[in-house]
Amino acid sequence: MQVQKVKGTKDLYGQEMLDWQYVEELLRSVAELYNYTEMRTPIFEKTELFKREQDSSDVVNKEMYTFTDQGGRSLTLRPEITAGIVRSVIENKLYASEELPLKYYYLGSNFRSERPQKGRYRIFNQFGIETIGSKNPILDAEGVALAYTALAVLGLKHFKLVINSLGDKKSRQLYREKLTEYFKPVISELCPDCQRRYTQNPLRILDCKVDQHHPAVINAPMVSTVLTAESQAYFTEFQAVLKLLGIPYTVDDRLVRGLDYYTEVVFELISTHPEMGAQAALVGGGRYDQLIADLGGPDLESFGFALGLERLLLALNAEEIVLETNEPLDVYFMPLAAEYQKQAVALATICRAAGWRCDLDYFARSLKAQFKSASRMQASIVAILGEDEIQASQVTLKHLASGEQVTVAMNEIVDQIEDWLAHDHAGCAVDHQHEH
Ligand code: HAM
Repeated sequence: MQVQKVKGTKDLYGQEMLDWQYVEELLRSVAELYNYTEMRTPIFEKTELFKREQDSSDVVNKEMYTFTDQGGRSLTLRPEITAGIVRSVIENKLYASEELPLKYYYLGSNFRSERPQKGRYRIFNQFGIETIGSKNPILDAEGVALAYTALAVLGLKHFKLVINSLGDKKSRQLYREKLTEYFKPVISELCPDCQRRYTQNPLRILDCKVDQHHPAVINAPMVSTVLTAESQAYFTEFQAVLKLLGIPYTVDDRLVRGLDYYTEVVFELISTHPEMGAQAALVGGGRYDQLIADLGGPDLESFGFALGLERLLLALNAEEIVLETNEPLDVYFMPLAAEYQKQAVALATICRAAGWRCDLDYFARSLKAQFKSASRMQASIVAILGEDEIQASQVTLKHLASGEQVTVAMNEIVDQIEDWLAHDHAGCAVDHQHEH
């Protein structure tokens, strides 16, 4: 019986895996430049962490993988990471013991039972940040800058920043009243989901994929019409800092985001490459000033975003960006008979201890076949162990780039390889200088 992977999930291996590692490493280093430290939270949590009474989003209401465990508890595979980070901050009282704002970054899998399509998976990975315990438009703009920089450093060119303000608690309340009034005469014409949204949170109607072309949805009043003076000022200041940092943006007052906890500033970084299709939002986030109090914590105003790694990789592909993932082998050991393999593994172990990437042949194949493997693995050096070498306790080393070949005593192997590799790396540095 052959088992296949679940629809909407993915395996990563080979070059694609190398690309992922490269991107993850880069994202970590960018986050660290902004002085974020990593947090990891559990992949499943108690369902009530995500399913809050007032939450009307599709993510929470329709797409969660929820199950009952052996103890009869309802658990949910996390659909996003923000809620877990917030729970941890409250549970561990991190706000009391650490410097504010708390600044965490994360990388991890999420689970949403959405209809799979290009750029939309049931298990997907996010990199994100959460800045907890401060309300300052500078911090929001800096968070956007972090995401923007990461995309730019990776070489992406075709993407845009879209921002909006959903306002503070008061603006949101006003907007809710306005939308309730506005949709009242037409709500029966809208889809059943919108009818649920109407009572839970009418703002969600604006995000409906089914009714997006309905005239009532198209002509709905904008949140900008009800922003309080404070929210308006906050949004203006946020934009001033974006300008200061040289980050171009457009305001889209229809941007409402897919989760319910947002207040004030929201943003998305969207790929504009035509190949990306419908799932082009690479990064999404914003401010959430009430979530921590809603989850039983103190009043800690916060900001964060998450970037979808699958989508980022698709966008890099679409823009034909080739990442520098090349990790050639330093030394390939070639025992020419099965009985020489023990010497090969012993020498490889010594070379690995010296910090070199090594591999060896396990099949006692012909010299020619082993040379082919060495070249496929882009080895710098091959170490041949044939009958003559073994009898004399020697090894023949060949530096493939120069063709230089020497036979040395086994205990001198490190010195010879060190010479060649040091020379190669010095050569690389010179090449780089020429490139710039
Ligand atoms: P989100 O907009 O739901 O926000 O997801 C953020 C990003 O995750 C999206 O822009 C997209 O790149 C990726 N993503 C979402 N769903 C899928 C999927 N089914 N398949 C592939 N990629 C997907 C959040 O999750 C918030 N927690 C962001 C945040 C952090 N807000 C404040 N702090």
